[in-house]
Amino acid sequence: MPDYIVMLGAPGAGKGTQAARIAEKVALPHISSGDIFRENLKNETVLGKKAADYMNRGELVPDDLTIEMIADRLSRPDCANGAILDGFPRTPAQAEALDGMLQKLGGEVVVVPYIKVPEEELISRLSGRIVCKECGATFHKKFKPFESCPYGKCEGEYLYQREDDKVETVTNRIKVYLENTAPLIAYYQDKGVLQEVDGDQAIDDVLASLIAVLPQQE
Ligand code: AP5
Ligand code: MG
Repeated sequence: MPDYIVMLGAPGAGKGTQAARIAEKVALPHISSGDIFRENLKNETVLGKKAADYMNRGELVPDDLTIEMIADRLSRPDCANGAILDGFPRTPAQAEALDGMLQKLGGEVVVVPYIKVPEEELISRLSGRIVCKECGATFHKKFKPFESCPYGKCEGEYLYQREDDKVETVTNRIKVYLENTAPLIAYYQDKGVLQEVDGDQAIDDVLASLIAVLPQQE
């Protein structure tokens, strides 16, 4: 049965950083709703144009657009054995829609690692984040300086600060998270799949804590 892993945590908790590593380890695709939206923004697609204002203000893109986008992504052949979801679901309606999608695909959410990080730390992580425009690889001015691109694409000139990482927008994103996404902690706790992980550790230590809660590999 395909296994789906949902990475839960506030903006800046390290979902993207860790999902990329876990995806490599368990050989499942890393599906980041934010990355798919940013790709659409870059390519000026209809979806990208609809999502742009919400994203730049740090608000959520409406559920119907987001759900349709993820349903399309999960129906592709590379997700046949499961996937690591990063940034989706983010509202109770999205979580229910995901359950419906996975039922159709014959899979289920097997574990929801909830990466917990104090709010002050989130702000310093996001305000120092730098991202490669070409491949999406994420670095941090202080905590994870750019060394070389894991995909051999990004160089200094491609590195940029995300529009929504400005301090005012970051504060709004955290507020939006607390109002809309934090209720999913209880949603997945009730289903018995939530695993809280201390995200306030060095990147490699968070990874080790996450690996400890993943389903055992044969
Ligand atoms: P999205 O791209 O998903 O942003 P987010 O959830 O706000 O999360 P982030 O990507 O900011 O944080 P992260 O947890 O991935 O942290 P990272 O690993 O990069 O969404 C963007 C927007 O798209 C939303 O605001 C919304 O508008 C829209 N959207 C997306 N999904 C949606 C949905 N489902 N519904 C509706 N709208 C949606 O780490 C952060 C930084 O910290 C990095 O610089 C990293 O190097 C550093 N770092 C990571 N771990 C550590 C550590 N342990 N110690 C020190 N530094 C660390
Ligand atoms: Mg991310």
